[in-house]
Amino acid sequence: MDDLTPDRATLEPIEIASRDEIEALQIKRLRWSLSHAYENVAMVRARFDERGVHPEDLHTLEDLAKFPFTEKADLREHYPFGLFAVPRDQIVRLHASSGTTGKPTVVGYTARDIDNWADLVARSLRAAGVRRGDIVHNAYGYGLFTGGLGAHYGIERLGCTAVPISGGMTERQVTLIEDFRPDAITVTPSYMLNILEEYHRRGIDPRESSLKVGIFGAEPWTNAMRAEVEAAFDMHAVDIYGLSEIMGPGVANECVETKDGLHIWEDHFYPEIIDPDTGEVLPEGEVGELVFTTLTKEGLPMIRYRTRDLTRLLPGTARSMRRMEKITGRSDDMIILRGINVFPSQIEELVLATTGLAPHFQIELVKAGAMDAMRVHVEMAPGAGGSEEAARALTLKIKGTAGLSADVVVAEPGGVERSQGKARRVVDNRAKT
Ligand code: DLL
Repeated sequence: MDDLTPDRATLEPIEIASRDEIEALQIKRLRWSLSHAYENVAMVRARFDERGVHPEDLHTLEDLAKFPFTEKADLREHYPFGLFAVPRDQIVRLHASSGTTGKPTVVGYTARDIDNWADLVARSLRAAGVRRGDIVHNAYGYGLFTGGLGAHYGIERLGCTAVPISGGMTERQVTLIEDFRPDAITVTPSYMLNILEEYHRRGIDPRESSLKVGIFGAEPWTNAMRAEVEAAFDMHAVDIYGLSEIMGPGVANECVETKDGLHIWEDHFYPEIIDPDTGEVLPEGEVGELVFTTLTKEGLPMIRYRTRDLTRLLPGTARSMRRMEKITGRSDDMIILRGINVFPSQIEELVLATTGLAPHFQIELVKAGAMDAMRVHVEMAPGAGGSEEAARALTLKIKGTAGLSADVVVAEPGGVERSQGKARRVVDNRAKT
């Protein structure tokens, strides 16, 4: 793999500024953001008043803990535009995330929000090792999902050539990668596995592809998956994080030279980690729920937005901005069986560590009598034999690490549902079984 470390001279000064400088900027911007939301969003004003807090009560960054949280349900309740802080005609773009139940959550951006977003995705891509002049194959879905357009504007902002292919039509993805010879690909990690499969199907060696780096996000993925994809394509695999409510992709990104967690672009987003049960702010280094306050967003400022994502904060390394550890999962995706908590990411690690298995998997929750049970669907890697051994090995691994007896079902190659974007890792069939 090539050394893609960006030249320090190409970084923005704030990325490597002192902590004092970063914090001074944060406090200034936080005051602005709290007042902007309080003055322009009825729900925020009512919540602050109810709690007896005013934007002027913020003197230090720690004071933020006095302010109330915002949750996804608040966006649904004020569907579609009720939390916008500017008149509707200043909103130049809408995005929405589908969600599995009820109404989608709608987000809106002013022209300046879109401009900042492009800058932050450009910064993220640069951190991942993408350079001005590179060709970037963008297979995140275009449309209401923030992935496609979010990445697109950042690719252009960095001075690269965007290939706006979007998700799906895997055969064409491979044809265009072979013909256009992109330097980088932006895509969900699970869809990258489909692209890999198509390479194998055509008998083309993926290690010979032009790709030097993949910027993977929009869903949890493990370091075991990183090792798998890096070896398969002989390229770097770097993590990008974001969520529509806060902006979209590019809230935090890993640096290619360290790959040690994602630097949060703290000049625009203030992170906190809270205990998901009590709402108490946890000290740096402890695992809990990630909460963000936007510092510059005009259209949809978010005050202490509860992401449901679980991680911990760590000090900066390649940049002065703090890091968040790779996300273990969302509290919503946590499977609780007989009092034991399991995340799909734990199962991913074990599948990847089992000889003979392909990297595709899906977890099905079923009823076994009165009890809930977990069935793990996996499949054999093409050409690999010994499905019974593989099933036994994975069952033992799950028992050994998670302490759970899972029913492992090994399908033929291609037997597990493929992802076109975000993979569906858990299917709940408890009501049907
Ligand atoms: O997934 C934005 C995005 C697009 C990020 C492309 C990265 C790349 P939403 O659809 O609103 O936005 O979903 C946000 O996806 O709260 C996490 O649970 C999950 N997620 C996003 N990035 C990562 C990541 C986009 N790198 C939700 N690792 C978030 C783990 C991630 N989970």
